[in-house]
Amino acid sequence: MKIILMGPPGAGKGTQAERISDQFNMTHLSSGDIFRAEKASGSELGTKMAEYMDAGKLVPDEIVVQVMAKAIREAEGEGLLLDGFPRTVPQAKALDEQLAKDNLSMDASVVIVVPDDMIVERITGRRSCPKCGKLYHVKYMPPQEDMKCDIDGEQLVQRSDDTEDVVRQRLSTYHAQTQPVIAYYKENDTVKVLEIDGTPRPDEVARNMVQALKSLEG
Ligand code: AP5
Repeated sequence: MKIILMGPPGAGKGTQAERISDQFNMTHLSSGDIFRAEKASGSELGTKMAEYMDAGKLVPDEIVVQVMAKAIREAEGEGLLLDGFPRTVPQAKALDEQLAKDNLSMDASVVIVVPDDMIVERITGRRSCPKCGKLYHVKYMPPQEDMKCDIDGEQLVQRSDDTEDVVRQRLSTYHAQTQPVIAYYKENDTVKVLEIDGTPRPDEVARNMVQALKSLEG
């Protein structure tokens, strides 16, 4: 199965991807994780990406399409879970074209719906493990030991774009540039759009998502 996971910053895309990618045998490709790894490498490309990411703006389409096309080509197996890509209509069109060359298409876009007023608390409380990437929230998904990863004991960190000001900018970027992608899929009917309520606890969101995806498998 090939799925695009969409939703505003903090909707729970990464949290749900951790839960469902194995179950449906999908390779999880997070554009944000790929760009953060590039940024951490200190490369010229990563430094350029950081300028946009730290300001809550989108990395330009031509860079994103090139980097993600390569990642998709190199992904192992048939199942694919795209998290954070595509995020603009030109990116969506580029993805359609890339897949069409191999006679492929995405099965669905799953949109996790969360109102704006819940987002700031979710994002500013997010912590993650720098070693294994596991996600936590200081209130909703705290680690067993304060600020230590449950898996490997590493000190948890906060993302540089997870400040309140930057989150508000990311939200407005989402409404202006990414919501039109959902409208694009609905209008063109190339990708089925499934909307999932992202406000319950993570396990309940995951259960509802699994049910929706199973209905696709028919
Ligand atoms: P990216 O890393 O994709 O960030 P994002 O879309 O803003 O999404 P987040 O990772 O912040 O949130 P999430 O939905 O994964 O939520 P999470 O599960 O962590 O992108 C970062 C930047 O890279 C962009 O701003 C842009 O600059 C650039 N970029 C990336 N892709 C791009 C593209 N295609 N084009 C151009 N630029 C691009 O959950 C958040 C918190 O809430 C966690 O602490 C979690 O524990 C908690 N939580 C999750 N679910 C629940 C729940 N149900 N109840 C309570 N708490 C919950």
